[in-house]
Amino acid sequence: MGADVARLLLVVAMEAEARPVRTALGLGDDGAELHPAFPARLYTGEVSGVSVGVAVNGTDPRYEVESIASQPAVTTTLHAVESFTPDLVVSAGTCGGFAAHGSDIAEVIVADRVIFHDRRIAIPGWDAYGVGDYPVVDLSAVAAQHGWRTGPVTTGNALDAPPVDMATMTASGAMAKEMEAAAVAWVCERMAVPFGAVKVVTDLVDHHEATAEQFDRNLQKATATLAEAVRHLVASL
Ligand code: ADE
Repeated sequence: MGADVARLLLVVAMEAEARPVRTALGLGDDGAELHPAFPARLYTGEVSGVSVGVAVNGTDPRYEVESIASQPAVTTTLHAVESFTPDLVVSAGTCGGFAAHGSDIAEVIVADRVIFHDRRIAIPGWDAYGVGDYPVVDLSAVAAQHGWRTGPVTTGNALDAPPVDMATMTASGAMAKEMEAAAVAWVCERMAVPFGAVKVVTDLVDHHEATAEQFDRNLQKATATLAEAVRHLVASL
């Protein structure tokens, strides 16, 4: 990216991911409601000459867990883009990585492509619509500067990876499996705002240990790395 990003919006799913990011950026813990019907909040501040907004999905009022996956990603992104008017949106969070690609826990992966891996619609026209493949900004320079790899980030609404999804991920060369980026990217395409994604590995999808156990054990380490990565990203804009 050049020096043309004055307003950066980070869209983050979980508070456990967002809190270290806010701390690293020096943003307060006083977020603003984005829409009365949704629990998402927006935290804003000035960081290295850039106006930064961190939008977090918040806790689902009925299920009393954090609102992860694609539906909250869409509403949060739409409401935050409308109120914050960013010139770049970055989906920031954790992901599953792949041992087959040489990934390890807490590796930072920057998207060079964002698609869905579970929207299977085997009807001509809808097949491509289901996969998505949304525009992604080129963050390869900042990635190279910090030794982060770039690769496809693929989005689905499940934490597990059944064989049918694995086949799609393998075919696309997926480097990161997560639950929000393509949904955020879809809104950004419609709203004509440049989009990028930065993800940090909490678990290896192709590992024998259960994803949830890996995720719980590695979340703190991965989110600390995410916060540092985001700080470097902001400094590079
Ligand atoms: N977020 C972190 N790890 C994930 C995984 N394996 N699948 C989906 N989302 C994730």
